[in-house]
Amino acid sequence: MSDTPLTDAIRRYRATVAARLHVPSHGGGPGSPGLEALWPDLMGWDVTEQPELDDLSHPDGPIASAQALAADFFGAERAFFLTGGATLGVHAAVFAALERGGALLAARDSHRSLLGAAAVRGCEVVLVDPERDLSSGASTGPSAAAVADTIGRWPDVRAVLVNYPSYLGVAPDLKGIAMAAHAAGALVIADTAHGAHFGLHPQLPPAALAEGADFVVAGMHKTGGALTQAAILLLGPAAAPRAGSVELALGLLATSSPSYLLLVSLEQAVHDLRTSIPGLLHTSIQAAVAVQGPARIKVQRPQDPLRIAWRSDAAGKLADFLALKGVRGEYVDGDTALYCVPFGAGAQDLEPLRETLAELPPPPPPPVVPPRGPQRIAPRAALLARRRRTALENAVGTIAADVVAPVPPGIPALWPGERITREVAGYLESEAAQGRRIMGIDHEQVWVVAE
Ligand SMILES: Cc1ncc(COP(=O)(O)O)c(C=O)c1O
Repeated sequence: MSDTPLTDAIRRYRATVAARLHVPSHGGGPGSPGLEALWPDLMGWDVTEQPELDDLSHPDGPIASAQALAADFFGAERAFFLTGGATLGVHAAVFAALERGGALLAARDSHRSLLGAAAVRGCEVVLVDPERDLSSGASTGPSAAAVADTIGRWPDVRAVLVNYPSYLGVAPDLKGIAMAAHAAGALVIADTAHGAHFGLHPQLPPAALAEGADFVVAGMHKTGGALTQAAILLLGPAAAPRAGSVELALGLLATSSPSYLLLVSLEQAVHDLRTSIPGLLHTSIQAAVAVQGPARIKVQRPQDPLRIAWRSDAAGKLADFLALKGVRGEYVDGDTALYCVPFGAGAQDLEPLRETLAELPPPPPPPVVPPRGPQRIAPRAALLARRRRTALENAVGTIAADVVAPVPPGIPALWPGERITREVAGYLESEAAQGRRIMGIDHEQVWVVAE
């Protein structure tokens, strides 16, 4: 069998079909002159469910074969291609992991897709705090002991969701977390939006499935080489019997017209990961490892060498300086900057970064984060309650209706259902004053439960 069955099928279709009398209305290009001028060849690849091109919602042709190849490559029992990003993967994984009910235990620094998942599944969410690196404040994920302890207090927990790795590329102790979860009869969902490439090189942390995760949400567009919005949900042996629930969730939540451009990009990305990427990874990892200044965020956990993050009072100025040289990073906020090294980038591409980082003084002390406020309402109930917006300064004493998180570190200061204390409001005000981006605050206002 070819290892790019979907690409081959579309090629054959393009070679044999002269008139496309079906949707999409651009007809492969001529119906959208502007787009055709921009992307002359690409438009022909934007096809739809024709008999020989299969159907993602009930695949039994080239899409089924491409998914089977992906499962085989990642060592999974099943693979589901997703055109709704890792967000859709989190929704479907939570839906399936809790098909028999129960609560979800999630790391506090989980992505907000967890909220949608809880709303759809109708499950309660129990939060566990991640550990923080003392010198940088970066999240290193929850410890296995904290997961075991929390499950001990919430015996209803049937699934555990953790980032593997964090946005900054730090891998938590997934193996220990999986052991703690499995011992209590809970399934493990690893959100690998930032770690689809793990396990592909000895200098990268191991793959999530190898560490014991049951569901793995592979963020193929962020870290697997596919087009933006493309992801894969992988099922390990204990999750495979839940495939029917995954299909049900995707049938409810996903589009009925998935983009073939994204599907082809997934197939090609898997092909590249199998063939050429390991070699390219080697080049990029060696180049990235050489770019380490004293201010680089370095923690006591395995880290993705392709994520170069640093803290400095001059982070913003340095990012502006690098931008003037044509080097653009992932983000810079307040005193933290993150640069992501793409597959295949070499020493030359990273030279301006190396020069800049070598000059940096040691980082400032990490921000002091106040204790979180007491949980007054369960997160899902608070998220779905009647809500209103109010200025942060007037929000003290009210109950948060949404996530509020300074980024970085991306660990929410508020989760839905928590009372907004004076300390938390003051911390958010001071982070905002320092120019930090704060998810969940818009025009200095936050969503609170309307009581
Ligand atoms: C940890 C994590 N999980 C999930 C997502 C959602 O991914 P997507 O944007 O592909 O839906 C993100 C996005 O930034 C993320 O950082």
